Amino acid sequence: MVILKSLQEIEKIQKACVIVADVLNDVRAMAAPGISTLELDEYAEKRIRAAGAKPAFKGYRGYPRTLCTSINDQVIHGIPAKGVILKDGDILSIDVGAVVEGFYGDAAMTVPVGKISAKAEKLIRITEEALALGIEQARPGKRLFDISAAIQEHVEASGYSVVREFVGHGIGRSLHEDPQVPNFGERGRGLRLLSGMVLAIEPMVNMGGSATVVKEDNWTAVTADGSLSAHAEHTVAILEDGPKVLTKR
Ligand code: MF3
Ligand code: CO
Repeated sequence: MVILKSLQEIEKIQKACVIVADVLNDVRAMAAPGISTLELDEYAEKRIRAAGAKPAFKGYRGYPRTLCTSINDQVIHGIPAKGVILKDGDILSIDVGAVVEGFYGDAAMTVPVGKISAKAEKLIRITEEALALGIEQARPGKRLFDISAAIQEHVEASGYSVVREFVGHGIGRSLHEDPQVPNFGERGRGLRLLSGMVLAIEPMVNMGGSATVVKEDNWTAVTADGSLSAHAEHTVAILEDGPKVLTKR
């Protein structure tokens, strides 16, 4: 069941989203060779709590941390750890969620660590572009898979692939609500988009094949073929006059 939000509810979601965006900005600036992903996580948790919010992921189905930090062939849900040290040339997906006054915000971006290859730079750029193209479709009168198709077409035109085992989602009083927002689909299909829907749109883009494997920790998803993967996510409200990106950085 898709839950429509009032403008007041969207404002509350926005509160959580502003905290998420600020934390992402700061963590991005800290992502340099030599720092551990646990240090990034501890900083993010402090920031979120100082803002009067709570981490959204910590404790969710037993997830142990505030951030997901996914490096190189890790697609999503990498768990921050003391022994995971960023190194020059890595690409790092930072995913963060916060809840404030009962409403959730969720966003992610992939950032370079030090100097990265031109190939990796392009992967990140295409992923961000695909997210923007998907968001552009998030308006009343469109269909859900118009978002999905816009993302898929842009990614595949570059010779990359979209991940299918993980999808975006509705968001509001829960981190994950209906509908699921796949990053693949047929234009003109799927549920009709309405003003008041709030979606976390999150393309996951692999340089090689689309298949993923979940590691023994039961969280970290990696590409099956070991290729690089990038991830970008915004929480977006669908308003009468079009999409409003609530997690704008
Ligand atoms: N942004 C991810 C999602 O929407 C992060 C979830 S991590 C989890 O699913 F631990 F909360 F599951
Ligand atoms: Co999400």
